Formats: sequence, structure tokens, C-alpha cells
Amino acid sequence: MKKHEIAVIPGDGIGKEVVPPALEVLHTIAEVHGGLSFEFTEFPWSCDYYLEHGEMMPEDGIETLQNFEAIFLGAVGNPSIVPDHVSLWGLLLKIRRNFEQSINIRPAQYFKGLRSPLTNPNDFDLIVVRENSEGEYSEIGGRIHRNENEMAIQNAVFTRKGCESAMRYAFDLAERRNKHLTSATKSNGIFHTMPFWDSVFDVVKNDYPKVETNSSHIDALAAFFVSQPEKFDVIVASNLFGDILTDIGGAVMGSIGIAPAANINLNGQYPSMFEPVHGSAPDIYGKGIANPVGQIWTAKMMLDHFNEEELGEKLLDVIQEVIADDIKTADIGGKCTTDEVSTEICNRLRALK
Ligand code: NAI
Ligand code: MG
Repeated sequence: MKKHEIAVIPGDGIGKEVVPPALEVLHTIAEVHGGLSFEFTEFPWSCDYYLEHGEMMPEDGIETLQNFEAIFLGAVGNPSIVPDHVSLWGLLLKIRRNFEQSINIRPAQYFKGLRSPLTNPNDFDLIVVRENSEGEYSEIGGRIHRNENEMAIQNAVFTRKGCESAMRYAFDLAERRNKHLTSATKSNGIFHTMPFWDSVFDVVKNDYPKVETNSSHIDALAAFFVSQPEKFDVIVASNLFGDILTDIGGAVMGSIGIAPAANINLNGQYPSMFEPVHGSAPDIYGKGIANPVGQIWTAKMMLDHFNEEELGEKLLDVIQEVIADDIKTADIGGKCTTDEVSTEICNRLRALK
């Protein structure tokens, strides 16, 4: 019996509504499979936790998480009680940085039964590899002076190591997929870091002669994501560019509520973390209508990470069938609740037994 020990952080808002059904799905998969089990340990770290304790996670939180094989997270953020930069940096980004989760991968693909806002979305299947540890999301900089003299400086940090490791991961992925890689740049506007990014890309690509490449400025690339998503295979992007592109990817699929993500620790020293692209969606929290598919597809990415790709594929098939049969939440044009969707997914998984 293979047992996976997973730390679970539902977090805030709809994270608390979509994580429990996703865990139920994982339990169901274990039940169907037989030789597999999951042990979930839940942590209440969130904005509510902050109100009580003055911090998003305890002092030894990182140490505690270190012993798990993976972290399964919902969403963090409740700007009505804790400013976003405090909550995100105090929990999500702290985990990503401390556990050297230097890559964030986010697929977007044509999904059976989903109504995309595009009038004629072709069969697209792309995946964004986002540099996840540096770039534009750095703590370097500061604010100085007051009133009309006030100013803020935010430094972007691009290291050869950071760029290269994201690019190599993306090239390896492209080699296993359709052998095309697009690099997101903006070297016509960003004077130092983006030409550097381009130069690293130009060197790294020599090691992957089988992969066709191109570089595209982020503004044009964002437009192409909408107009021609089927033209892409793998895209490698800096932290900020990848963040924005993947929200577009989610929207093009039909809703950000279905988009999954994985934060990967490449050196195997720390756990990787799995969390959907969407946030805590305060506007729909408490109504029971959050789409659980993003969180459940994220569970599929965790299965892939555990080398259970076959089970992951089965799960993705079941999700698509359920959506195609119109069992879906309002964000993708349905009338079902969170629980109705996830219960149906579990029932159909059990039927596979
Ligand atoms: P959001 O992703 O929470 O919501 C954007 C829009 O998408 C909202 O209209 C929401 O109702 C909808 N939506 C999102 N997920 C959905 C789902 N599963 N089903 C149906 N509809 C869904 O982004 P927003 O509003 O910018 O941020 C809200 C909070 O979440 C903020 O505190 C933000 O910092 C945080 N956040 C956290 C992330 C994380 O934990 N990784 C990622 C993005 C935002
Ligand atoms: Mg985002």
C-alpha cells in the first residue's frame, strides 16, 4: 500500500469550500485504486488565523510543513480584513520561497462541454511554465519620503540560475509534448532584465535542437492567447508575465474557476505545493456555488507528481464527462452547486471500479 502524507491548507474564502470536495475525490480515487491511500493533515492558516494570532502561520510553520510529501492549498486572501500583500507574503509566497518551489506550471486546454467566451475556440492544449521564485515578485525596494514627495522603488531580480531552470523545465516538457516553446519577453520596453532573459534563452535553446522556439512580447502574446490559443504548446515566462498569462488561459478555457497549478520544488529537498490558479473569490464565498473543478484538476496534477499519471488521466476524463453532461456551476453556465459537481465526479469514479 502506497501512502501519501499531504499537508492541507484550505486558506480563505472559497478555498474552504473547494478543498474538502477535492479531498473527497482523492479519497474516492484511493478507494477505487486499492493500493493507494492518502493521509491529510489540515492546517487552519488563513486571514482568520491572522486576526487571532497576528501572523498567517506559526513561527515553526515552515518546519512543520517540511515533513510532508506535498502541500495541497486552496486560496489565500481576504482583503476586507488583512491587506493582500500581508496575507500572500505571510503564507503562500513564504511557502513558495522557503521550499524553493522555483517553477509554477499551469495548463489550459480545450475542455469538452465547456463554453469558452471565445466564439470559436479551436482545440487548444497549452501549458505555461512560470518562473516562481524571483523576477518581478521580489521584496527588494522600498518607499521613501511623504506626501507629494513620496516615492516607491520595486526591483526585479533575474538570476541566470532562476531563468535557466525555468527554461530547461519548459524545454524538457516541450520535448515530451509537441516540441514547441514560446518565450515571453518584453525586451523592447524593459531595458535590463528582459534582454538578459532573452540572452539566457538563446543559450539554453542550443541544448534542445528538437524543440522549435520563438520569442514573443508579452503584450502581443496576451492577445494571441485570446485570438489563437491553439498555436501554443509550452510557454515559458517570468513570474509576473506567467501570472497574467495563466489567468488569461483560465478565462479562455471558460472560467478561472477550472484552472489548476503546481508549484514544483525541483531539487527534491522540500515538498511541492498544489493550488488552483484562482483566489479566494470573496464575491461568491458562502453561496456554495464555487466551481470545484480547479481544485480537483489541481489534485490531478498532484497525482501526476506522485507518478500516478494513469489515475490522473482517468480523473480528468471523468471531470470532462461531468461537465459535458451539464453538471456544472454557474461560472461555466450551469446551475449546480459545488457539492453536486464533486459528488457526481466521485460517483462516476466509483463506477469505474
Ligand atoms: P479570484 O480568483 O478570487 O476571483 C476572480 C473572479 O473569478 C471572481 O469574480 C470570482 O468569483 C471568480 N472565481 C474565482 N474562482 C472561482 C471558482 N472556483 N468558481 C467560480 N468563480 C470563481 O481573484 P481576486 O478577486 O482578484 O482575488 C480575491 C482574493 O484572492 C484576493 O485576496 C487575492 O489576493 C487572492 N488571490 C489568491 C491567490 C492564491 O491564493 N493563489 C491567487 C489569486 C488571488
Ligand atoms: Mg494570479
